[in-house]
Amino acid sequence: MASALRSRLNVRPAACFRATRSFSTASVRRGPQPFVADEPKAPSVQTAIPGPKNQAAAKELDEVFDIRSLNLLADYSKSVGNYLVDLDGNVFLDVYAQIASIPVGYNNPHLAKAANTPEMIRALIDRPALGNFPSADWSHIVRTGLLKAAPKGLNQVFTALSGSDANETAYKAAFMYRRQQERGGPDVDFSEAEYKSAMINQSPGSPQLSIMSFKSAFHGRLFGSLSTTRSKPIHKLDIPAFDWPQAPFPALKYPLEEHVKENAEEEQRCLQEAERIIKEFHNPVAAVVVEPIQSEGGDNHASPAFFQGLRDITKRNNVLFIVDEVQTGVGATGKFWAHDHWNLQSPPDLVTFSKKAQTAGYYYGNPALRPNKPYRQFNTWMGDPARAILFRAIYEEIESKDLVRNTAITGDYLYGGLESLAKKYPHAIQNLRGKGQGTFIAWDSPNRDEFLVKAKSVGVNIGGSGASAVRLRPMLIFQQHHADILLEKLETLIKA
Ligand SMILES: Cc1ncc(COP(=O)(O)O)c(C=O)c1O
Repeated sequence: MASALRSRLNVRPAACFRATRSFSTASVRRGPQPFVADEPKAPSVQTAIPGPKNQAAAKELDEVFDIRSLNLLADYSKSVGNYLVDLDGNVFLDVYAQIASIPVGYNNPHLAKAANTPEMIRALIDRPALGNFPSADWSHIVRTGLLKAAPKGLNQVFTALSGSDANETAYKAAFMYRRQQERGGPDVDFSEAEYKSAMINQSPGSPQLSIMSFKSAFHGRLFGSLSTTRSKPIHKLDIPAFDWPQAPFPALKYPLEEHVKENAEEEQRCLQEAERIIKEFHNPVAAVVVEPIQSEGGDNHASPAFFQGLRDITKRNNVLFIVDEVQTGVGATGKFWAHDHWNLQSPPDLVTFSKKAQTAGYYYGNPALRPNKPYRQFNTWMGDPARAILFRAIYEEIESKDLVRNTAITGDYLYGGLESLAKKYPHAIQNLRGKGQGTFIAWDSPNRDEFLVKAKSVGVNIGGSGASAVRLRPMLIFQQHHADILLEKLETLIKA
């Protein structure tokens, strides 16, 4: 069974394990020791993009599946580490990583090993409805994986299916908590009026409460999460939305060191407005949701002081503080959780995650955030043990290879290189941002969309965010030698 699965996965355990053994913490300091020994040495592009095989496969796929968002068709059996291979054999250095969701590289041997176990096979073929029929080892899986990675101060987790689902269930937890407080605690039963009105979507059973989010935020595309998403109209058009408020998110000016006073004033303005909205909005605000770095909305940053201020406001106004770490979480900013950069006095009430975790959900600490009755926060699967097992392997890989520190170090190096490029080509690299935030780096490009397309021709798979940002979202195994290749390719593109 094991070898059959391995051959289907097309992993090369011997070579990959060699890479694992060759790593040591000291090598992060030395830099050049590669995590993945059998990675290609560089990108290589053999055909026009898309090549003939990609075009033919896309045509076939189009008959049964909407391909209008297609980027490329990949050959995952040939993709290794930081390199994504397409159907025509073109090899791309991948700094987009499946929309920021691949943590430790393609065909990672440690993940393949975790996939090739009786525990995983059991989780896959007899998928439990976790709320009703969890297996005996579910507690062990959660404790040895998800909870080991829990943000400081949070010791419980609710598992979900996607980033949007994680946020929506966190919002539900916030609403139920709020009404429970108003009602007088978990033991006070619902009123007859609440039971009746809930069934016709009216208050008080369906209360007119709200979640406050920020201008340009992205929190997902399901119904509830979409109401807090404010990045692009195309995501929201034609979909009924809740009457929920948005606060301004700081529009910082770059370089930061030249705009210290203005930026601090801008953050103060946004904080004041956020507090005013919380106090005055006609549908009382149960929770504030915020991304540590607004990602889909254009890579918009704010300082730790802004987030500390926001945390204080939520405390003062008895509003929950939800930090959406779906894109920033699991190491990419050079800390395991991006909100670790803020040094908060008290942890967020809820932290949502997905993407690089390869599973999803929210962490919390206050037991009162568990609804007072069963089945109030519930669905068939409530997550997926197979994905939680994979997360555990991802976490082990991150820990054993010190990948968060690698990302911090490589990020500083890459940022330095980009800063030099920005000085040389100020028109091409504008508003460079993400200093000290690992590899979570972005800049504005005057012809962004064209730039992203052209990047493929030099062998780089790179993404954008917002209207004009080029965003870097490499994996946690991205190292200095990859940064050197990327910088060289970027310069080639800029000069072309
Ligand atoms: C910050 C943030 N929250 C939520 C989501 C939604 O996640 P999903 O696409 O898995 O529903 C995303 C997706 O890009 C995101 O970046």
